[in-house]
Amino acid sequence: MTMEDVPYTSIFVTNAADTSQDSLGKSRSTSLSCRRHWNRLSRLQKSFIFMLLLIVVSFCLISTTFTWAPDASVAEDDLLRNKFHALPLSNQNPGASRRNEHGSAFSRNMGVPSNAGLPTMSRQLQPDIEPSRAQQLKVPEERSKEIKQQVAENIRSVISLDPVIPISKRKRQTKKPPMVAVKTDYHRLKLDGPKNQRQQEVVNAFLHAWKGYKTFAWGQDHLRPISKTGQDWFGLALTLIDSLDTMYIMGLQKEYFEARDWVDNSLSFDLNRNVNLFETTIRVMGGLLSAYHLSGDEMFRHKAEDLGNILLAGFKSPSGVPYSDVNLRNRVAHGPSWSPDSTTSEVTTIQLEFRDLSRIVNNPIFEESAMNVSKHVHTLPKTHGLVPIHITPGTGSFRMTSVITLGARGDSYYEYLLKQWIQTGKKIDFLRDDYLLAVDGIQNRLVQRTHLSNLTFINELENNGQVLRPKMDHLVCYLPGTLALGVLHGLPQWHLDLAKDLLYTCYLTYKRQPTGLSPEITFFNTEESATHDFWVKHNDAHNLLRPETVESLWYLWQITGDKMYQDWGWEIFQSFLKYTRVEHGFTSISSVLNPENTRPRDMMESFFLGETLKYFYLLFSDKPIFDLKTWVFNTEAHPLPVYDH
Ligand SMILES: *[C@@H]1O[C@H](CO)[C@@H](O)[C@H](O)[C@H]1NC(C)=O
Ligand SMILES: *[C@@H]1O[C@H](CO)[C@@H](O)[C@H](O)[C@H]1NC(C)=O
Repeated sequence: MTMEDVPYTSIFVTNAADTSQDSLGKSRSTSLSCRRHWNRLSRLQKSFIFMLLLIVVSFCLISTTFTWAPDASVAEDDLLRNKFHALPLSNQNPGASRRNEHGSAFSRNMGVPSNAGLPTMSRQLQPDIEPSRAQQLKVPEERSKEIKQQVAENIRSVISLDPVIPISKRKRQTKKPPMVAVKTDYHRLKLDGPKNQRQQEVVNAFLHAWKGYKTFAWGQDHLRPISKTGQDWFGLALTLIDSLDTMYIMGLQKEYFEARDWVDNSLSFDLNRNVNLFETTIRVMGGLLSAYHLSGDEMFRHKAEDLGNILLAGFKSPSGVPYSDVNLRNRVAHGPSWSPDSTTSEVTTIQLEFRDLSRIVNNPIFEESAMNVSKHVHTLPKTHGLVPIHITPGTGSFRMTSVITLGARGDSYYEYLLKQWIQTGKKIDFLRDDYLLAVDGIQNRLVQRTHLSNLTFINELENNGQVLRPKMDHLVCYLPGTLALGVLHGLPQWHLDLAKDLLYTCYLTYKRQPTGLSPEITFFNTEESATHDFWVKHNDAHNLLRPETVESLWYLWQITGDKMYQDWGWEIFQSFLKYTRVEHGFTSISSVLNPENTRPRDMMESFFLGETLKYFYLLFSDKPIFDLKTWVFNTEAHPLPVYDH
């Protein structure tokens, strides 16, 4: 039942009642004169009055039937209350807050203010699955079996695209409907597995990688598929946690539950290890959060909160700009041994996760700690919106001699400006403004074209912004996707032109190598005399199974609808199969330059399962799976919900 319908109905009900009462009263007191009048009327006039009565009566019938039609999501007592208008609209009980699309659109149009200071989700649960979820949230002790059943059902059939909203938040929504900033292209998330041959092949690749991981590296960070061992970096089962939502999205139930149970029973943060704050946030916290939002499994929320409480130690610096590393057990933070500095992109690429955590556990400390860093970085002097890649936690200022790059250590600063703005319902202007200025800076200071084929690429800027270096990391290839995402959210159209040009270059860095795979770093030629658009240094020729180009192909395909991007992705996917697939998984290789000797590195990074294969799967879908107006993907490809503020 929508808010809109109720007052509407009441008007008709009242009118109808009045009308009938009036006519009854009149007919009793003045029946004689009435009949006289009636007889005097012409046939035409009589039939006109009949018609009028008929219309009024049918209106009553239609409107009441429509309004009172039982909706699965509305509790019976709501129905009764609304029917008899026993309660003012502002005071409805919790059930009434489960608005349907119509309801949220209404509240948006009316500009109903959101609950100031209270986190509210922009999306609500799908009516047909909500009641059982609500139960599940109310009785945590009865959880485990129910959750399994529920999640299994979700995976088997079709689940809502809506992230899970904790019960506490939903109660709050009942007082005032939140202002929903998103929610236009509402549709359901199909999670019942691959729908076409290409997707099936991606799932096969995932299962192949997973089998190797499970057999030889279960519970460890990475698989070494050739030596058939595991590798630990942080000791946090990075591959397992990075893969949770991928398996959920691919509909791999059995594998998902095995991993889920491992997290429940065996994931421990009580380790005497120094972990990188950024990597742990985007991979582990991000993985737990998106698993929570997709499945509704409370266990993930608790784990994410435990981890968040530990990682808060990272922010205890004089400036509030976090140190790079945190010791999990003693919760002491420090910089890397070789430098007092933190990395700019690292300290500015934890905000999506910390904000989401704050909102689902209803504790502002995480969001505030991370957001204070963004606010601080906003105040620092920059070069046309562009930032050096190092920042000092002691003073909070940039290391001005550091290079400016859209690649390693700079990249996701720009990405999270945009994505934070989206995540918060496009209400924090400085994030958008800093992003717009930065893209302007990229276009005016860093973009160049090769002379030979007019290929667009992005330079690095060295020596305090004095020297251009035509060096582009593969990491830069995330940028087309981010640019396109901005355009989807209303930013200038020319960003999309830049995105397309740049993505074409990224594609060619694969296509023009004899393996069909991109190197880690490519150098470009702008000279007239050049015989090649770009070239690769021997030491930069490795491929780590990175996702960025596939990620951008997915965004560009989903936003433009151009299937060419799917075909490019398919070529790249086949190259991965051909040159990185080994008997027990997939491996990084040291050279994309020589198909005869790729020199496998015996390492399968967690992001291959968490990002690369997920993006392939999403890219090859016949129809978009995620609505990019209601979900925002963190920099490790973990989808998080968009909030309305
Ligand atoms: C964030 O910054 C504000 C203003 O400087 C400060 O009052 C607040 O304590 C900070 N919050 C956290 C969690 O550090
Ligand atoms: C090179 O590409 C840019 C961007 O697409 C375009 O504006 C320009 O006209 C092209 N130049 C030539 C010589 O083709």
